[in-house]
Amino acid sequence: MTVSVTAHPGPRGRYGAFGGAFVPETLVAALQRLDREATAALADPAFRTALDAALRDWVGRPTPLTRADRLSRALGAEIWLKREDLCHTGAHKINNAVGQVLLAERLGARSVIAETGAGQHGVAVAAACARAGLPCRVFMGADDVARQRGNAARIVRFGATLVPVDSGDRTLRAAIDEALRAWVGDPEGLYYLIGSVVGPHPYPWLVRVFQSVIGNEARAQFLAACGRLPDAVAACVGGGSNAIGLFQPFLDDEVELRGYEAGGRGSRPGEHAATCTHGTPGVLHGAHSLVLQDSGGQIVDAHSIAPGLDYPGVGPEHAALAAQGRVRYEAIPDAEAREALDLMCRLEGILPALESAHALAGARRLAEERPGALLLVGLSGRGDKDLDTLGAVA
Ligand SMILES: Cc1ncc(COP(=O)(O)O)c(C=O)c1O
Repeated sequence: MTVSVTAHPGPRGRYGAFGGAFVPETLVAALQRLDREATAALADPAFRTALDAALRDWVGRPTPLTRADRLSRALGAEIWLKREDLCHTGAHKINNAVGQVLLAERLGARSVIAETGAGQHGVAVAAACARAGLPCRVFMGADDVARQRGNAARIVRFGATLVPVDSGDRTLRAAIDEALRAWVGDPEGLYYLIGSVVGPHPYPWLVRVFQSVIGNEARAQFLAACGRLPDAVAACVGGGSNAIGLFQPFLDDEVELRGYEAGGRGSRPGEHAATCTHGTPGVLHGAHSLVLQDSGGQIVDAHSIAPGLDYPGVGPEHAALAAQGRVRYEAIPDAEAREALDLMCRLEGILPALESAHALAGARRLAEERPGALLLVGLSGRGDKDLDTLGAVA
């Protein structure tokens, strides 16, 4: 089994006090249809066979579980990496993109729209749409286009239309606003392919299902390699899709789960994107979750060196897991993420994405807290896209 269809949050899409679908009336029918059709598709052996084949033969799954020997020695814990950086197109985003494009085809959509922050989701959607022969438009904040030029070029190369968004915060939030606006204009003909476990129900559930392949593989690989489960599992959290995918099969185990958010430049509003750490309940992009907002309820701009974490919201299931205390969330400052990235490059010969570097920095903290522990770390993507941000050769 590659993906698991567990714990549907019910027709209202609630995760404890969070979730739901707070959308304009015109989108309600489209969301309800998506929920129905996705549930039917995931129960249909033909759909599952097509999904499994795409994940195996096109995405390149299963991805390896790598023991990071030199890093383990340096940090004093045993560190195993789940290598989503080795997926086709370079990050976990492709697991969800390929699954939702299969759904879009099944629903008879004329074309696909998507938003992207780091560009990894945009690249994944553009590639999956090219494979399916579906036209595709990708909305990307103008600032992200500038700092992720390579991914912007790849989106165009795959035949998608790239729409730079100059309004709002010119990053992921503005791109989602614009994509939602386009969808309201044609909810039947367009398929909106959301890239994380955010947005209105059923997206947080649907994206979690498609990303559960990460944790399902990792759990089995870990048991085969170590003969037991890890002491702790660490992942970075933007919207939260790689984290929820990795955590999913461990939720009922006695395993500590840690989500690492973008601590940015500091803890004042506008300096970070650490929503579970500093956020308060509110509605953003169709879901009730934790959000970064001021006392008047206005969304505050987020900041992170990692564009894929640069978002003032988080998936509602993470908000619920934080409230239950099942997952502990911590903020990693930009500088600490960069240090972890350098350590990984020099000790393991692996260039992680800046987003993933937050999970590695978390693993470093965990190793200090629990010397000798057995740690599973989600390496959500590769860092070639970040070379411009990382700067000149030192
Ligand atoms: C490599 C990588 N990791 C993590 C993320 C964060 O997304 P999520 O929290 O949905 O996994 C992104 C987003 O673009 C990404 O590109």
